[in-house]
Amino acid sequence: MSVMQELAATISVLSSRGKGILAADESTPTITKRFQAVGIESTEDTRRAYREMLINAPGFNQYVAGVILFEETLNQTTSKGVPFAQALKGLGVLAGIKVDKGLVHLANTVDENVTQGLDGLPERLAEYKAKGASFAKWRATYTISATTPSQLAIDTNAEVLARYAAICQEAGIVPIVEPEVLIDGEHTIEQCEAASLPVFQAVFDALYRHKVKLEYIVLKPSMVISGKGSAQKATVAQVAEATVRVLRRTVPAAVPTINFLSGGQSSEQATAHLSLMNQTSNLPWNVSFSYARALQDYAMKTWQGQSANVEAAQKAFIKRARLNSLAAKGEYKESMEKEDISLVA
Ligand code: 13P
Repeated sequence: MSVMQELAATISVLSSRGKGILAADESTPTITKRFQAVGIESTEDTRRAYREMLINAPGFNQYVAGVILFEETLNQTTSKGVPFAQALKGLGVLAGIKVDKGLVHLANTVDENVTQGLDGLPERLAEYKAKGASFAKWRATYTISATTPSQLAIDTNAEVLARYAAICQEAGIVPIVEPEVLIDGEHTIEQCEAASLPVFQAVFDALYRHKVKLEYIVLKPSMVISGKGSAQKATVAQVAEATVRVLRRTVPAAVPTINFLSGGQSSEQATAHLSLMNQTSNLPWNVSFSYARALQDYAMKTWQGQSANVEAAQKAFIKRARLNSLAAKGEYKESMEKEDISLVA
């Protein structure tokens, strides 16, 4: 298969309507923090058992088209001795890999970051591909304050995201391009909109400069939303409207699919926002999810690291997956939160 055929095959799966992406690529320090918050010990084995539990949830492949893995998981085998990427393949689900190496201070800014990991990326991609990964993820973050995001941070992160995306496509790997305007802070939704617009604009400028084929990327943006500490909480309708407005102004129709991150929203909010966006007429892209916390929070709390809780945790996970799948078609209703929805096909 040519590189273009590989990219086309992968994107057609990832942009399936009503399906989304599970972000299970928390780095070891991040998953350890999440585990500790609910009293689970973080070891190589508990991390493996937890992620195996998620992908084995009955009905998983009806709602999930791809899973982003952390390198540790790509190198692990399930309890049955099957490598994770192969276990996913058996379910008809694609394996992806987080390839960035995290954030470092961007010199000559006040507390802003750039994402590192470009050095040696082609070699790493070849290795990940040989292990079964067909798509990748790279996350850039932006903070909102009176002076940020600065133009320097906007331009630098856009450039790096575009270089990453171009390198991935050359290797036959579909890049998830993830610019995350962080929810932390006291900003209003209007401030978030004003910050998000130049961020997304710069990302697409850079993708164009680097000749990235927009038909073969997944955009994973943050929603336009009021800050966690804001006194003026934006409504679901305001978030859906502002997010669609910013994306329409910045994201070309050639992009097949937009899969949001949840970014610290509650599970219910992330689902409600997604569904309302999908009720907007004439969206030029598939609009779906690539959530970590908003898919996993209840499942992780229910699991507690105990095998006796696996079934209940899988039910909790599938409920979120199914509700988000409905939201990706604009068919979610708040009343569904009270239903025992995981059991309905
Ligand atoms: P959240 O949905 O928890 O924001 O995570 C998505 C993700 O992949 C962050 O990079």
